[in-house]
Amino acid sequence: MKMLLTGVQGQVGSALLPLLPVLGTVVGLDRTHLDLADPDAVRAAVLAHHPQVILNAAAYTAVDRAETEPGQAHAVNAVAPGILAETARHIGAALIHYSTDYVFDGSASRPYTETDTPHPLGVYGQSKWQGEQAVLASGAPALVLRTSWVYSLHGHNFLRTMLRLGKERDSLQVVDDQWGAPTWAGSLARATTHILHQALEAGDFHAFLEQHSGIYHMTNGGATTWFDFARAIFALRPECTARVTPIPASAWPSPARRPANSRLDNRKLLEHFHCRLPDWEDALQHCLEEGTLP
Ligand SMILES: NC(=O)c1ccc[n+]([C@@H]2O[C@H](COP(=O)([O-])OP(=O)(O)OC[C@H]3O[C@@H](n4cnc5c(N)ncnc54)[C@H](OP(=O)(O)O)[C@@H]3O)[C@@H](O)[C@H]2O)c1
Repeated sequence: MKMLLTGVQGQVGSALLPLLPVLGTVVGLDRTHLDLADPDAVRAAVLAHHPQVILNAAAYTAVDRAETEPGQAHAVNAVAPGILAETARHIGAALIHYSTDYVFDGSASRPYTETDTPHPLGVYGQSKWQGEQAVLASGAPALVLRTSWVYSLHGHNFLRTMLRLGKERDSLQVVDDQWGAPTWAGSLARATTHILHQALEAGDFHAFLEQHSGIYHMTNGGATTWFDFARAIFALRPECTARVTPIPASAWPSPARRPANSRLDNRKLLEHFHCRLPDWEDALQHCLEEGTLP
């Protein structure tokens, strides 16, 4: 099987890259090979590489910056996924696409399911929702995997920020009224590979993904707040000695509003693919055991 992976330098892309070769040949593209903001280049790359499956791990993920760069966020998160999907359909390929908890406004008092109607609070969430809709409207076999609070030992994320500030500072204030599931990029990569493996084992790869096309919530298990996530990180890293105090999100103003409730219900993923990601505490431990920070 030939796979085309975008965003190879990102958290999820770089976690996928070493796992995918057990399934076939991988062509990994970063921004220097393919600018997703260029629709013609996106179409041309898919036609040139002619994969059986495209994994779109690239995205415009700067949630606050998106508020002042809506055109770029829209091009990468809304337009490009649609072109990837349409071109995939044209050549008989399937698409695995990632999306976000930020499609929801967080006003629900329970975990969100795939049938809940999105209502994004900001430009990033809006652009990702438009991308989901374009992918699903394309008619290509496509899985839209919505996840939340992604971290790894690589790239820009809350874990890396806490590991740095925990050593540099005496005290830190962290938001304690937003709930979600921190999700290790390694868990996402393993679960994605598991699903692709099932599709290959099913005999007709294309038909399997066509039959299961749709949105799936895919996060590590359980839920916590940013404050408790920070405390869990510090508990595993004794060199992080900063004292953490909880604050409300209202005391930490940012250009983009974030949902207070980012919890995603993962039952559909379990029902369709017998796939359950580890609880977030276990995933955090695995991530930190994986290696030293680059
Ligand atoms: N991070 C989170 O907390 C989070 C939460 C929920 C869902 N998600 C979703 O999960 C998926 C993976 O996110 P991630 O955390 O791995 O993000 P990431 O670490 O920010 O990686 C995104 C990658 O996309 C690339 N990219 C951005 N604009 C591009 C362009 N115009 N052309 C080509 N490549 C471009 C980036 O390249 P550069 O490094 O060159 O910019 C980066 O390598 C995304 O769909 C995201 O929306 C993420």
